[in-house]
Amino acid sequence: MTRWNDGTDRVEAVSPDITDETNALPAEYFTDPNAYEMEKEKIFSRYWVYAGHANCIPETGDFFTRTVGDKQIIVLRDNENDVRAFYNVCAHRGSKIVEDTPMTEPGSMSRIQCPYHLWTYDLDGDLSTTPKSFEEASLNPDLADEEVAKLDDDGNSLLEVSTDRIGPLVFVNFDTDPMPFEEQAGKMATELESLPLGDYQHAARFVSEVECNWKTFGGNYSECDHCQANHQDWIEGIQLDESELEVNDYHWVLHYTHEEDVDDELRIHDEHEAKFYYLWPNFTVNMYGTADGYGTYIIDPIDESRFQLIADYFFETSEMTREELEFVRTSRQLQEEDFELVERQYEGLKSGALAQAQLGPNEHTLHKFHRLAQEAYNA
Ligand code: FES
Ligand SMILES: [Fe+2]
Repeated sequence: MTRWNDGTDRVEAVSPDITDETNALPAEYFTDPNAYEMEKEKIFSRYWVYAGHANCIPETGDFFTRTVGDKQIIVLRDNENDVRAFYNVCAHRGSKIVEDTPMTEPGSMSRIQCPYHLWTYDLDGDLSTTPKSFEEASLNPDLADEEVAKLDDDGNSLLEVSTDRIGPLVFVNFDTDPMPFEEQAGKMATELESLPLGDYQHAARFVSEVECNWKTFGGNYSECDHCQANHQDWIEGIQLDESELEVNDYHWVLHYTHEEDVDDELRIHDEHEAKFYYLWPNFTVNMYGTADGYGTYIIDPIDESRFQLIADYFFETSEMTREELEFVRTSRQLQEEDFELVERQYEGLKSGALAQAQLGPNEHTLHKFHRLAQEAYNA
């Protein structure tokens, strides 16, 4: 039952049973600034979140940065060719070390040097050198040189962040004792790992700032009941009535069958369908049915009422063909159509009239999303 905000405070936590009256996340979690503060801690610091694509940093010392909530990290390729992540925070006095560097314009460094007082770390994050002045007593008349302890390299390493991967897709977890990545990625990891994701190159990125809560867009992505009315170009050739929604522990998949005339060669996978994976909390992998490539979305909250959509496209080469450019154009149009929908929805939510929405019994992907949020809040 839809609960209007009549001031009697009848909002309840989202019920695990989709047939219950209270099957949606209370609306306040979409608009309350405190809710986003809580999510930074209970969601974005505890679950695995996407950091970026390993193909963008192929050589030793290549790096990019990523910001998740308030946390800033450096993702880099170390001397053993592994991808690792460290807080972008100096072990000396906490300065941010490298400038913001998106994976689409990666940087390269042979060592990690903080510009403030030049503490220098190797690519494993271990402190390798400090300026000579740190080991001399000359600036402190109370000390003799021999009393100055040598800085302990081990105790002054950069703070590492846990990483794991699905093929070239790199994920990080800020928890000191994170849940196993396999538990969160489930069979999505197995399915995607069977595809040659790493053979494809980054070809395009669009970054958009949208005026709505990140979960509003996440919910919009998770259903296609709005497609017929709102995405005429996108659904051309897709048999919407044959779509299937699959729900797993921490991810859900929207399967869309294509009309018979889709060229079988024209996609990275064999299935005669498009598959859109949503991995809790804020990442999607878009396996297209009509283009030989794939895409990803990062739905990054900025605050409770704004998020950034980072849409990346990967094709056989980074130079797109005419068909690929056209495909990306239609995809971009789809995003803009969705932005209008979710911004309009958000205006309604912000009015405070709705206390708790009513999901349809078909909306079980959305219900899963709401339940995971509730579960995280209650943990
Ligand atoms: S804060 Fe980085 S060297 Fe001092
Ligand atoms: Fe849409």
